[in-house]
Amino acid sequence: MWDALWLGVDAATGVSGAAHGACGLIRDAAVAVRGSDIAWVGARAALPGPPEQLARTLHSGGGRLLTAGLIDCHTHLVFGGDRALDYELRAQGASYAKIAAAGGGIRSTVALTRALSAEELAATALPRARALRADGVTTLEVKSGYGLDVASEIRLLEAARLLGAQLDLEIVPTLLALHALPPEFAADRAGYVALVVRELIPEVAAQGLARAVDVFCEHIAFTVEECASVLQAARDHGLAVKVHADQLSDSGGARLAAEYGALSADHLEYTSAAGVAALAASGTVAVLLPGAYLMLAETQKPPVAALRAAGVPIAIATDLNPGTSPCTSLTLALSLARALFGLTAEEALAGCTRDAARALGLSASRGTLEAGKQADFALWDLGHPREFGYWLGPHRCCATIRRGVCRWSSNLE
Ligand code: NIG
Ligand code: FE
Repeated sequence: MWDALWLGVDAATGVSGAAHGACGLIRDAAVAVRGSDIAWVGARAALPGPPEQLARTLHSGGGRLLTAGLIDCHTHLVFGGDRALDYELRAQGASYAKIAAAGGGIRSTVALTRALSAEELAATALPRARALRADGVTTLEVKSGYGLDVASEIRLLEAARLLGAQLDLEIVPTLLALHALPPEFAADRAGYVALVVRELIPEVAAQGLARAVDVFCEHIAFTVEECASVLQAARDHGLAVKVHADQLSDSGGARLAAEYGALSADHLEYTSAAGVAALAASGTVAVLLPGAYLMLAETQKPPVAALRAAGVPIAIATDLNPGTSPCTSLTLALSLARALFGLTAEEALAGCTRDAARALGLSASRGTLEAGKQADFALWDLGHPREFGYWLGPHRCCATIRRGVCRWSSNLE
């Protein structure tokens, strides 16, 4: 007998194939849960018996749309302060790079972040994480990167863990080791990279605090060579790797990501044809971050047509961060990805479910509604999956369910 059976839903399973429509849509579906996993998915009419004899608990979705729980695969959720002042300066003509060069930007957030304890950092991030959960998110990647010394980076990763426990969200922690050069190493780039390679990565790996290591490969951040040495150290310690690649210039980030078998290469506005080909060959996911594109008034779009043609999986994330994407809605990011980059509804939904799972190395357990995967769902007041990314702004999420248990519902608010 199943523990629970969801009825009265149209299920956008994300599983393609002749049996299903766009987005793997099954009208009048049934989704069964056993323990924390999905046990059965199909048309209600194909159930092997009367529902009340199949499951202990029956839930009705009231005719709404059910999807896999959304996955935000790129966030910098935990930080101190905000950067509203930077945004004002940009409105007066200062560029992101110029503000960073003057000691503002990421480094100003580092100063505010270092002043806070793990508990204070978690408390600051809590409303942002709540907003994401109320927008259908059940799994959330959180990067460090505003600590930039061993103790502060570890504190950020601990804050991420605390948040996950407080909110029943699945937090996937990433050590963003090379984000900016900390002020105490302003005259010693090599010294900072060595600290990351010799102390930070070994310590984080030993404590099991992160699943992946990320780097910001860019002219205002770190060179391909500096990033490569950190990615190598990550791999040597059994950690996956990710790259902030080609956001502001074609700096070889996508090729670097491919060379190190990265789970994802993120941003990609300036990625060349060679970079796209490299991503395709390595099976690296392209993560598009339209919030940062919009807030930086960028005009160079990521090469979506080339990514598509090369068969590179495309994910979409909020990039939630104080400097370039203060965005606490993944469905808003979908809307932006469609409006600005021309993604289809099917690409948008896959981009925050199936392909986002892949960008975190979690495809085996998450990202689609399929028997054997974790019972993570989002229930939407939407009639058809083509509405994903059509509504401009947070969509109408009614409930988020993780491991078969309802963690948030609009009825509760
Ligand atoms: O993904 N590109 C680097 N990191 C962030 C921005 C961080 C910040 O400005 O605070 C990003 O856009
Ligand atoms: Fe980022």
